[in-house]
Amino acid sequence: MSKKTIRDIQLQGKTVLMRVDFNVPMSEGRITNDNRIVQALPTIKYALEQEAKLVLFSHLGRIKTEADKETNSLAPVAKRLSELLEKKVTFVPETRGQVLEKAIKNMKNGDIVMFENTRFEDLNEKAESKNNPELGKYWASLGDVFVNDAFGTAHRAHASNVGIANNIETAVAGFLMEKEIKFIGEAVDNPERPFVAILGGAKVSDKISVIENLLNKADKILICGAMAYTFYKAKGYEVGLSKCEDDFVDFAKQLLEKAGGKIILPQDHLVTKEFAADAEADLVPADNILTDQMGMDIGPKTIELFKEQLNDAKTVVWNGPAGVFEFEKFATGTKAICQILAELKDATTILGGGDSAAAAIQMGFQDKFTHISTGGGASLEYLEGKELPGIKAINNKGCCCKNC
Ligand code: 3PG
Repeated sequence: MSKKTIRDIQLQGKTVLMRVDFNVPMSEGRITNDNRIVQALPTIKYALEQEAKLVLFSHLGRIKTEADKETNSLAPVAKRLSELLEKKVTFVPETRGQVLEKAIKNMKNGDIVMFENTRFEDLNEKAESKNNPELGKYWASLGDVFVNDAFGTAHRAHASNVGIANNIETAVAGFLMEKEIKFIGEAVDNPERPFVAILGGAKVSDKISVIENLLNKADKILICGAMAYTFYKAKGYEVGLSKCEDDFVDFAKQLLEKAGGKIILPQDHLVTKEFAADAEADLVPADNILTDQMGMDIGPKTIELFKEQLNDAKTVVWNGPAGVFEFEKFATGTKAICQILAELKDATTILGGGDSAAAAIQMGFQDKFTHISTGGGASLEYLEGKELPGIKAINNKGCCCKNC
């Protein structure tokens, strides 16, 4: 990797500012999935073993009003981190000021302070999200070095990632960031072939640039999820009440022409007459959806087809579920893809974050992939081939100054 990492710097006795992405799903003040916290533990533990004074910070949710602050405090996250580390985490319910500065000043080697949601600063003219130069500079002034382990936020140019990095001499990647860059970056730029991409989820419009980028790089692209219906409409098929983006039908048509057979579409679907968990389902061929039916999942023929297409794959990148996996009855396709990938021999399997990652984890396949990304939007933008600002701002290896 071309970026400096936490291994490349001295940490002992240093005040280490570490940006993590602890934007975890919450319900009524409780964390419903702590995967992002768990994935950051190796970097956190390493910094503590090296006897750093560790200052952690993250955003959580989006803060537009004072009321949003009540439901988006990082206090429960600090508590969960403390449980996972079996160690005290001092939570400071501030994002700036004397209380925070004093807490940092009083730290001893091996201590952890976590401060409040960086986006609380967004109530002040979106200071965090607009990368206010004063804020980045202020946060940078609180420590000696900056470690960015927040891949999930790397597609944002905010004060707590880019702003700090631009105002401190040493800005390096944590282990999670390094892992994400290695797996997603290498899969796209230097894949072992055959390289197969599986793209699902609801909208073609969300994945335009991913499809365009991967058409040039992958050997095959398997399309599933509701996205498939826009492609079917482009082929002139009836899609009934299925989710379909009419504005993108022409685009889908152009993609199919350009793909020269690289794009593989589902062959059959489970369809229903209503969008409900217990709706009665029929299995129909792809070209036989009736006007009053909607597609909810891929069918067994498609699963077989995908299995054949993936059989000799050496690199697989998957982003987006195959069906409405939130309803047990329509989770079969997504589960089958998890199973097929879990059984592939000698293949690097990478799962982009977001819904498909949540589905795979929920279905018990957490350890069956080479890598499950912690980034939703970030992994998508990385797959688009974009340079992510959070990564760009990290020091390059062999760099003699901050900018070469
Ligand atoms: C995510 O969950 O994708 C990241 O934490 C970024 O969050 P955001 O979309 O609110 O910037």
